[in-house]
Amino acid sequence: MWSSLLAVALATIPAAEAFPQMRALVELASQTKAVERDIVVGTSPVHTILQRQNSAVGDGATYTPPGAKDSEACGKDKCCIWSYIAADMAAAFTDGNQCSNLARGAIRLGFHDAGAWNSSLPSGGADGSILLSGELSRPENRGLEPIAARTTAWFETYKPYGISMADLIQFGANVATVVCPQGPRIKTFVGRADSTAQPPQGLLPSPQDNARALLELFGAKTFSPAELVALMGAHSVSRQRFANPRQAGAPQDSTPGVMDTTYYAETSAQRPPAGVVRFPSDVSLARDAATSATWQSFSGTANQAPWAAVC
Ligand code: HEM
Ligand SMILES: *[C@@H]1O[C@H](CO)[C@@H](O)[C@H](O)[C@H]1NC(C)=O
Repeated sequence: MWSSLLAVALATIPAAEAFPQMRALVELASQTKAVERDIVVGTSPVHTILQRQNSAVGDGATYTPPGAKDSEACGKDKCCIWSYIAADMAAAFTDGNQCSNLARGAIRLGFHDAGAWNSSLPSGGADGSILLSGELSRPENRGLEPIAARTTAWFETYKPYGISMADLIQFGANVATVVCPQGPRIKTFVGRADSTAQPPQGLLPSPQDNARALLELFGAKTFSPAELVALMGAHSVSRQRFANPRQAGAPQDSTPGVMDTTYYAETSAQRPPAGVVRFPSDVSLARDAATSATWQSFSGTANQAPWAAVC
């Protein structure tokens, strides 16, 4: 298992392609119109994934770093330092069997950095600003403090090796996703530029939003209704603390240590299982005419396959 964790696929991409939008679990875009055009008409690895000519899921190849962190060989290999970061993260993201609180936090942190963006903004998105601009103190980011502190500590350790905070955050979300049992192994591309500018308010969803509002909000981030339904599966590993403080720690499905599709069935059911807290937003998406068919297709007996096909 350890060797496969270290094999999170990496590629270095030129600056013009450094702001990918991805349909996979966590990557939204930080992009100018010019970069957007590049991705749409280009031939970069990210472009081919967006066009569905290529998969966002890693190929399972393993990776062995050519030397110790500070060796010359490691410095010459773009993937090398990331394999050391992956090892640190993987240790923090498991409780031995299932994914840890820091893993859930890392997935949410990746979303909150990348997701504070829409396609009419000239910049922003997956730019590290959530940890570099004071944005963390916004109410919608409550609960992210522990993963924010850990990620900041990792940044201090690995910044001398030339990484960006923006890449570190998205990498953390991808490592957490594969450490959570049954989670897909998503390719990570590095090369994002950091920003200390805060995004406008109101770009992240509220648990009180209904499906109509959410489809509009995520549509402006270039997500189709089916892609939004696939993204919501991140709540398969979620435990809320602040949305419903009286039930702090309650999960959003009965198996919060596992990235499975139980979440879909339990969110669309008449009633949640005992101990599970559902958000009005999630129940609304499960039942809305625009999304319920996709939602149902993820909760059937075919298990992970229909969900994985949209990622
Ligand atoms: C309709 C859209 C969404 C809404 C309204 C929403 C809202 C929330 C809320 C209220 C919490 C609990 C925070 C707390 O009280 O501690 C939460 C947790 C979480 N969210 Fe979302 N979210 C949405 C979409 C997403 C997406 C797209 C992702 C990732 C791709 C994501 C990942 C997570 C994760 C992993 C947690 C668990 C964090 C933890 O257990 O520490 N969410 N979300
Ligand atoms: C994108 O965000 C900006 C800034 O918050 C907002 O004014 C604009 O209405 C949003 N665009 C769309 C299409 O939602």
